[in-house]
Amino acid sequence: MTTRDTPTLAEPALAAPALDSLGRPLRDLRISVTDRCNFRCVYCMPKEVFGHDYRFLPRRELLTFEEIERVSRVFVGLGVQKLRITGGEPLLRRGLEHLIGQLATLGDLDLTLTTNGALLAQKAQALADAGLTRVTVSLDSLDDEVFRAMNDVDFPVARVLGGIDAAEAAGLPVKVNVVVKRGLNEGSVLDIVRRFRGTEHAVRFIEFMDVGATNGWRMDDVFPAAEIVRTIGAEFPLEPLAAGYRGEVAQRYRYLDGAGEIGVIASVTQPFCGDCTRARLSADGKLYTCLFSVRGHDLRSVLRAETTDEELDETIRAVWTRRTDRYSELRTERTSSMRKVEMSYIGG
Ligand code: GTP
Ligand code: 5AD
Ligand code: SF4
Ligand code: SF4
Repeated sequence: MTTRDTPTLAEPALAAPALDSLGRPLRDLRISVTDRCNFRCVYCMPKEVFGHDYRFLPRRELLTFEEIERVSRVFVGLGVQKLRITGGEPLLRRGLEHLIGQLATLGDLDLTLTTNGALLAQKAQALADAGLTRVTVSLDSLDDEVFRAMNDVDFPVARVLGGIDAAEAAGLPVKVNVVVKRGLNEGSVLDIVRRFRGTEHAVRFIEFMDVGATNGWRMDDVFPAAEIVRTIGAEFPLEPLAAGYRGEVAQRYRYLDGAGEIGVIASVTQPFCGDCTRARLSADGKLYTCLFSVRGHDLRSVLRAETTDEELDETIRAVWTRRTDRYSELRTERTSSMRKVEMSYIGG
């Protein structure tokens, strides 16, 4: 053993970063804080399936903010650098800014949130004050009729735009996520591009995915990222940009005229499992190592048993080390109709 390998009392060895069985480090933790949503997006929580009698998790099943903070601290010790709060709709969780405040104390992290924007106008300043570093807002069309049909609760575009403005005014960098479903909103792509070109807000267009088991996904409904890039590039010439970091989900392009950039997330046509560094924690404390998992690992009972942080660290490390997931690379017609957890439960 060399001296370099020998930890001394004065200089304890840093825990080795957790690598999964395909050599992928654990870098991102996406935390769902509620499985409820005030929208019923047709690609995520279609009304016919998630009707009024759909059973959401009872409150006592949810991790408390203290439990989320504790588990997040352990994940940070394992190498996590980005925490993303998701849902359902995370802003429905009362007092979310307090959780943000707690998580902001965990270190110099990228601390972000994915929201549908409905409650953002009233929450943006408190979230920014609490230490949120940025926000991602979902917005699938600027055409009110199309948008209302997609969120299926008659929610107007103007209020989401108001949320984006409020986030900007609070000093939060904003990304805009657009899920494109063929036959529904591919006609909105250029409108959205025109609206956000020249602003600070990066727009990312996302292929419709076969997450969950309720959205009636068919390959024919996917509007491929390459087609999105062609559509935009025909009007506003683009050039590809290098990835900003290992495992970046979006492929980025810049406008040749300098009006900013766009991204496409080609999770169906060009899967990116090879660099997937993401773990997901459901609102009831189950750890999932893939968006398309069928089963999660129950961390809540580990948290609620009298375990030490070291034991929690070992549990998570063991799950991550065994991880072999690469669903999107293996997708077939058969896998796409398997029973998988819903995106509203596991988080986008
Ligand atoms: P940034 O940190 O802002 O770069 O965000 P991101 O690139 O991680 O993307 P974001 O969290 O906004 O995710 C956007 C969308 O990409 C999600 O809502 C999913 O539709 C898709 N996505 C994100 N992560 C994964 C993943 O691990 N697997 C698959 N298949 N899709 C993903
Ligand atoms: N395909 C792609 N993205 C989806 N999302 C939810 N359902 C799907 C789907 N079927 C993502 C969107 C949305 C976020 C909350 O979840 O990116 O913005
Ligand atoms: Fe839509 Fe997001 Fe709600 Fe799903 S969780 S229904 S994508 S707003
Ligand atoms: Fe990661 Fe699973 Fe998505 Fe592949 S399909 S990128 S393994 S979450």
